[in-house]
Amino acid sequence: MKLEVILKTPEIAHIVKDIPYKSSIKKDANFFRLCFFIKENREIDRILTLLDQRITEEDQLLNTSLMPEHNFIILPCGFKISFVESTKKKQVKKKEILLKRGVAFGAFHPTTIMCLELIKKVIKEDFSGRILDLGTGSGILSIMAEKLGAKKIYAVDIDFDSCLECKENIRLNACNEIEIICGTEASIKGKFTLIMVNIIFHTLKEILVHLRDMLENDGFLVISGFLTNHTNEFIQLLNSDTVLEKMEREGWGAILWQKK
Ligand SMILES: C[S@@+](CC[C@H](N)C(=O)[O-])C[C@H]1O[C@@H](n2cnc3c(N)ncnc32)[C@H](O)[C@@H]1O
Repeated sequence: MKLEVILKTPEIAHIVKDIPYKSSIKKDANFFRLCFFIKENREIDRILTLLDQRITEEDQLLNTSLMPEHNFIILPCGFKISFVESTKKKQVKKKEILLKRGVAFGAFHPTTIMCLELIKKVIKEDFSGRILDLGTGSGILSIMAEKLGAKKIYAVDIDFDSCLECKENIRLNACNEIEIICGTEASIKGKFTLIMVNIIFHTLKEILVHLRDMLENDGFLVISGFLTNHTNEFIQLLNSDTVLEKMEREGWGAILWQKK
């Protein structure tokens, strides 16, 4: 496994100095990407503590994530998700998603993987409804939705940099049914056939009832971003009768729900 740390700093030497772990450093346009190769989970805390001691007020820790050794994963449903180094256009297969590694969330995290598996159950070739991907991050769920056959997808994120990365990834995957909106759930009007939301627990809890109202009757909601011990809390907020599927992965939960 690799621990990936994304940092904005004027110079990296003082941060990596004397950290006793094998690492690699890459400079991107606005940040450094550090990769530490680890064997056990407890090494994560050690590395993050050492980094914390070295980070000054000038530096910004933008993101940390655990990544598999290789730059791709194959989902149980057969889709391959790969990271690419450059945004140069490549041939992309129908069951493949290419992502330029940036700071936006959305690739190999268990919550993302579960959302991808759940939307695969809803979107079939002839799916013609409107889809909202709230908190699109890298754009991965929207890209998957289009690859599965969706025709009108709104990818919304509050974070401008994520919207820019989403745009690059949409281009990389030759998608043309996705509209990006920098904003929140309040920035978009009308009803949706499917809403996909993988967002932090508190935000999700706050907006869940509003999202339910944004769905048309018989519409589907895919949610994740919470730990499994919160699954029932979300089911109660929705309506347990229409939970079509609950998923669990590495302590995280996800739900597929239908509005009746
Ligand atoms: C955990 S990431 C999910 C990324 C991707 N959809 C996935 O499933 O991997 C959550 C994203 O939601 C965005 N976000 C948080 N609150 C939001 C809100 N109220 N409206 C829109 N985007 C929001 C964040 O900027 C972040 O990019």
